[in-house]
Amino acid sequence: MIISIIVAMDENGGIGVENRLPWHLPDDLKRFKSLTMGHHLIIGRRTFESIGKPLPGRKLIVLSSNNSLTGLGEIKVAANLNDALSIAASQAETEVFIGGGREVFQTALPLTERIYLTIVHTISDANVFFPPISWSEWEQLAVEDHDIDEKHIFSFTYKILQRKTDKN
Ligand SMILES: NC(=O)c1ccc[n+]([C@@H]2O[C@H](COP(=O)([O-])OP(=O)(O)OC[C@H]3O[C@@H](n4cnc5c(N)ncnc54)[C@H](OP(=O)(O)O)[C@@H]3O)[C@@H](O)[C@H]2O)c1
Repeated sequence: MIISIIVAMDENGGIGVENRLPWHLPDDLKRFKSLTMGHHLIIGRRTFESIGKPLPGRKLIVLSSNNSLTGLGEIKVAANLNDALSIAASQAETEVFIGGGREVFQTALPLTERIYLTIVHTISDANVFFPPISWSEWEQLAVEDHDIDEKHIFSFTYKILQRKTDKN
């Protein structure tokens, strides 16, 4: 099972402000949807509260130490990342997505093999940041630019990064 992070960050690594995204980029949300569709998606309790609803077609696992978080229907709650990964692995998942926020990215990063990254070409008012990462340990598998248009006030770049192995 591949463990993949999916994240959008600004040029300072900013990812969130006041428990929401600092931007509205519909095409990035569409990409998020198509990449994660049909897969397990692990997110933190605060990110879940920010989304505020189930994500159709995604097998959502919310990380929380609060075991009274119930009544979420099909959405599973896991007390730690290992339990969440075990749930995904037990259901023959091929690629599990780590959807943030910062706290979950930080825990998952050492286990992560692939990062679906969107770099938003701005410095936003974010006050939540992606955890420190050594970019030199990652090789770029794909890159695609998205220009400013009537629906996107910032340009952005999609990248797919793979953790380098000892061989490369
Ligand atoms: N730009 C992006 O791609 C992106 C993606 C996702 C989120 N965000 C942004 O990031 C911000 C939220 O990030 P955040 O770091 O504040 O919160 P978060 O990671 O979404 O949620 C933190 C909470 O998740 C639970 N949790 C996290 N790690 C856990 C672990 N290993 N085991 C058990 N429970 C765990 C805890 O819940 P309990 O307190 O209930 O124990 C913790 O308080 C928001 O602004 C959001 O919009 C941005």
